Amino acid sequence: MSAVIPATLIAGDGIGPEIVDATLAALDALGAPFEWERQVAGLAGVQQAGDPLPAATLESIRRTRLALKGPLETPSGGGYRSSNVRLREEFQLYANLRPARTIVPGGRFDNIDLVVVRENLEGLYIGHEHYVPIDGDPHAVAMATGINTRQGSRRLLEFAFETAVATGRKKVTIVHKANIMKALTGIFLETGLELYERNYKGKFELDTVIIDACAMKLVLNPWQFDMLVTTNLFGDILSDLVAGLVGGLGMAPGANIGAGAAIFEAVHGSAPDITGKGIANPTALLLAAALMLDHVQLPALATRLRKAIDDTLNIDKVRTGDLGGSAGTAAFTQALVSRIANG
Ligand code: NAI
Repeated sequence: MSAVIPATLIAGDGIGPEIVDATLAALDALGAPFEWERQVAGLAGVQQAGDPLPAATLESIRRTRLALKGPLETPSGGGYRSSNVRLREEFQLYANLRPARTIVPGGRFDNIDLVVVRENLEGLYIGHEHYVPIDGDPHAVAMATGINTRQGSRRLLEFAFETAVATGRKKVTIVHKANIMKALTGIFLETGLELYERNYKGKFELDTVIIDACAMKLVLNPWQFDMLVTTNLFGDILSDLVAGLVGGLGMAPGANIGAGAAIFEAVHGSAPDITGKGIANPTALLLAAALMLDHVQLPALATRLRKAIDDTLNIDKVRTGDLGGSAGTAAFTQALVSRIANG
């Protein structure tokens, strides 16, 4: 058995605690050696510690450098700043890795196996925004500044290219809008092309595409892509689009990776509309846990977990409502745990 691996656990808001419980049951059944430090953030952080990102949570992640996180609620418009964005900034989690793979066949698109790598810290998400009041209208004009740096682009592109090599991806596509935002997204494109020529030529094919054309091509023929690498806002949108190709947000995991820590989560939010109903699909967080197992160099456990998820969904045909099934979270988890125990 592997040595114990300390890791921070944030159950999160809404359906967070429900899908985290399901994921812990699966990890326990696998014998995954995580030793959890339970912490709070988001709305639970405000309610229990008076802060959406309490100091104890930050200290824990600083110590463990590893976290599994349920979704955190962020108020739209006003209120506190997103704890997710703050976590990314605090630990310089510059790379967001979002794989999308068809698990349940028979949807609109079969055999999808795509990875989106999104720059996580720069671009239009840096939060430099303000309104200009005119003639008594406090919101007459809204302004935002985007910043992309050579260094920030390079480290993200390097992460993507290294991941492509390590995981045997055949083609990487840089997604940009350098025809219009010539500087802001041009720097990303230029840096990617240079880096490829210098260090990666021949290791995989490199292609480039403009974001709007990319969105259309993904819907018409997603199989023409393998790995997409892009800036923050485009990556946010494309990764949800790609999640939609494989059955929706309930199936999409994400890893936020940086020099100082790695945080694993589902791409979806806290789903307040189904909270407490016992019907949430825990698959996205389970797949995030599989990414976490890969990250801590336990690929055999990750493979067992992914296979058990596939078998539960496709052989046992135990599925939650979002996938057209009738199982609740608990019944799905029970079936999955049996698969792991007998696998
Ligand atoms: P959402 O992803 O929570 O929900 C969108 C729709 O998908 C809802 O109908 C929901 O019921 C459904 N859904 C999501 N996850 C599901 C699952 N596992 N099983 C079955 N159905 C599922 O997005 P929404 O409603 O826009 O956001 C709610 C809250 O979550 C907001 O406060 C938002 O800021 C936060 N959020 C947090 C994220 C994070 O922590 N990484 C990511 C996205 C949103």
